[in-house]
Amino acid sequence: MQIFKDKVILVTGANRGIGKSLVTALLNNGAGKIYASCRDLKKMPVFADDRIVPLQLDITDIKQVARIAVAASDTEILINNAGTLSPGNILQGEPSGMEKDLEVNYFGTIKMMRAFAPILMKNKPAIMINIVSIAVYSPLPSIAGYAASKAALYSATQSVRIELAKKDVTVYAVNPGAIDTDMNKGSDWDMPDPDSTAIKILESVASGKLDIIPDVMGQGMYTAWREEPMKLSKIFSDLYHVEK
Ligand SMILES: NC(=O)c1ccc[n+]([C@@H]2O[C@H](COP(=O)([O-])OP(=O)(O)OC[C@H]3O[C@@H](n4cnc5c(N)ncnc54)[C@H](OP(=O)(O)O)[C@@H]3O)[C@@H](O)[C@H]2O)c1
Repeated sequence: MQIFKDKVILVTGANRGIGKSLVTALLNNGAGKIYASCRDLKKMPVFADDRIVPLQLDITDIKQVARIAVAASDTEILINNAGTLSPGNILQGEPSGMEKDLEVNYFGTIKMMRAFAPILMKNKPAIMINIVSIAVYSPLPSIAGYAASKAALYSATQSVRIELAKKDVTVYAVNPGAIDTDMNKGSDWDMPDPDSTAIKILESVASGKLDIIPDVMGQGMYTAWREEPMKLSKIFSDLYHVEK
């Protein structure tokens, strides 16, 4: 994929799951340098490739984000992948999980977008890829706080897409369905693995598609929503009431 060839790319949450798979897929597709960032460098896998520059980064920490923006000021492609999912519905339980998901998924990613927008504008033509979720279209009540944080992020992503469009920075939103990572540990759903998902994401970016749904389950949900938003709501209602 020519679009990634020799590019300088920063990936958040690169130590596991989709982030790790994106790093591997980017290495296999000619990336020039990858800033692989994660909260705890001891947890970073060995990519065994000298194009990797490991960086410690918690996206909720404004000081760390500012430091990374200096250290990685040659970034041409930013992949905002880091995220958390705290199970819980709206009406019961501690609201701390909802607050955490908002802090990481929404405000953390906003910190990254703000810090890196000037860098991407300087290094244009540039790309920002936000890993969001199929839950932006309709919430599953058992992960309501997560769904709300991702819906907020999707809105912010679309806003930034408009802001940066005239600055030669293209903003992509990736809205996967369920992928087989730690985030879905314990689920017996039939899910695609993160490696194949990462390749699909990169192929879709290369094809110029701005809103990307990389997996079959997610595409089915999106098609239902496109036909009639209540159809996706019904799918989630059925899932929720079976779960209960
Ligand atoms: N798996 C799915 O079904 C699915 C579906 C739709 C969207 N997504 C999205 O895809 C992205 C990747 O998720 P995943 O499935 O790969 O989950 P995962 O395996 O749980 O990985 C989450 C990653 O985010 C990192 N992270 C969490 N909080 C962070 C913070 N404050 N600062 C920096 N990094 C942080 C984690 O680091 P630590 O190891 O330090 O915790 C980890 O590297 C997330 O944004 C998620 O919402 C996933």
